[in-house]
Amino acid sequence: MSHCPHALEVRGASKSFGGVQAVCNADLIVRDRSIHGLIGPNGAGKTSLFNLITGLIPADAGEFRLGGEAYQPTDLINVTRLGIARTFQNIRLFPQLTVLENVLVGRLCHQSPWHSGLLGALWSGAAYRRAQEMHEQRAESLLQQVGLADQADQCAGTLSYGAQRRLEIARALATEPRLLALDEPAAGMNPVEKSALTQLIRAVATAPQGPSVLIIEHDVGMVMSLCDRITVLHQGAVLAEGTPADIQASGAVREAYLGSTEAPSAGAAR
Ligand SMILES: Nc1ncnc2c1ncn2[C@@H]1O[C@H](COP(=O)(O)OP(=O)(O)OP(=O)(O)O)[C@@H](O)[C@H]1O
Ligand SMILES: [Mg+2]
Repeated sequence: MSHCPHALEVRGASKSFGGVQAVCNADLIVRDRSIHGLIGPNGAGKTSLFNLITGLIPADAGEFRLGGEAYQPTDLINVTRLGIARTFQNIRLFPQLTVLENVLVGRLCHQSPWHSGLLGALWSGAAYRRAQEMHEQRAESLLQQVGLADQADQCAGTLSYGAQRRLEIARALATEPRLLALDEPAAGMNPVEKSALTQLIRAVATAPQGPSVLIIEHDVGMVMSLCDRITVLHQGAVLAEGTPADIQASGAVREAYLGSTEAPSAGAAR
């Protein structure tokens, strides 16, 4: 048994929008150094739960711990500084900035107000330049990792859909997160891109200082092969949690997905 604290621990998270209970008393534990899947039918509350964890929307209730430390997810920037980085179901890049600049934005959360402003540049020119060089090197190596090194100077908006999703991952990694939360990173990708993405996520999660990964994904085949554990949401509540084999064997999960007793399979959710 490991004594490491969990990467993420959520207890009793709830959120309703008017009459819709989007997240209902949900628990979620992402073990340290693991890849954890979050699945469920459309409208199950997966993105809403991400939004609560990352402080994009305020929770009605819930306790949140990152690496064993309680935190209040009150705003996205703060949560990013604490060590959670995410990507979005609807890609959110700066389309007019270059690919490299988009990754450098992720580095901003590591720059002290001292070094990030004009004042810092004037006050401490050499140290500022050294820091900038270090950030650029890190950004370039992340672009290499996600296979975008050759497009570093292109505008992000000109990239293919799959490449934009990989760029979002590089930008998230640039914040050096403890937890990387990916909302449908494979959406719109073809099978070749999906398999490259699967390898990338594995490489990220197994790197020496790599983050734990929490991934929302509708391609059940991909989730089953990639994840160590899976949580299934249904109508805002946790329906099942376990290993891919546990989830595959769960009758309740089959019901939720298909309204039948067939096992969830690749592509079944969409
Ligand atoms: N900002 C919001 N305002 C009102 N209702 C919302 C809001 N965000 C989500 N909802 C509702 O909450 C429920 C859960 O939505 P959510 O986007 O979390 O589901 P999801 O599991 O991510 O679905 P999908 O697989 O389609 O992305 C839905 O009924 C949705 O309409
Ligand atoms: Mg969603």
